[in-house]
Amino acid sequence: MALFVIGDTHLSLASNKPMDVFGGGWEGYVDKLREGFQAVGPEDTVVLCGDLSWGMSLEEAEADFAFLDSLPGVRKLMLKGNHDYWWNTASKMNRFFAEKGFSTLKILHNNCYEYGEYALCGTRGWFYEEKGDQKVFNRELIRLEASLKAAGERKKLCFLHYPPLYQGYRCAEIIALLEKYEVEACYYGHLHGGSHRLAVEGKYGPVVYHLVAADYVGFQPQKILE
Ligand SMILES: [Fe+2]
Ligand SMILES: [Fe+2]
Repeated sequence: MALFVIGDTHLSLASNKPMDVFGGGWEGYVDKLREGFQAVGPEDTVVLCGDLSWGMSLEEAEADFAFLDSLPGVRKLMLKGNHDYWWNTASKMNRFFAEKGFSTLKILHNNCYEYGEYALCGTRGWFYEEKGDQKVFNRELIRLEASLKAAGERKKLCFLHYPPLYQGYRCAEIIALLEKYEVEACYYGHLHGGSHRLAVEGKYGPVVYHLVAADYVGFQPQKILE
């Protein structure tokens, strides 16, 4: 049993949205993802850190979900990215996945999942690009805290779509929550192409940060726990 993470699969199997705007690494990225997932075993868990499908609705994203569901791994825990316009209420998403038989797809939203002695927590997060809608920001803080609280006394790993840290930027409120709940490591996506060089990785205060956007990790899910 192992735990893996990757973000930003940016699938569009039903509509073929070109990904080359993000740079050359995206050429043939669906095949690269399929290959990268060969490292994942049938009993493993994979956290998917948002920007999963370009579909505008659950129906439009169905082919992308079918692809993700077909990849190895007993559970894929999905969190919301800024491009996941298909995102819906948890009950609608769960019903859709159940109806379609996508049994490995689970939603990480206001909740957490157990993994051995760890709790896997997460939400979309917040980034300065969003340009100050205080309500949305406060809602994200509430979601993050709900997820961390749900973990109780377990050790915690946190998954976000947006980077809480970036060169010249830190989201003090999110970092404060990660530290308050003694999160050991935080994994995030969202940054592509030229933005990679501005990513903050490694230990910052008590928390270790990792960028796991698909193009940053060569489309290979990253193993984080055995
Ligand atoms: Fe992305
Ligand atoms: Fe994003």
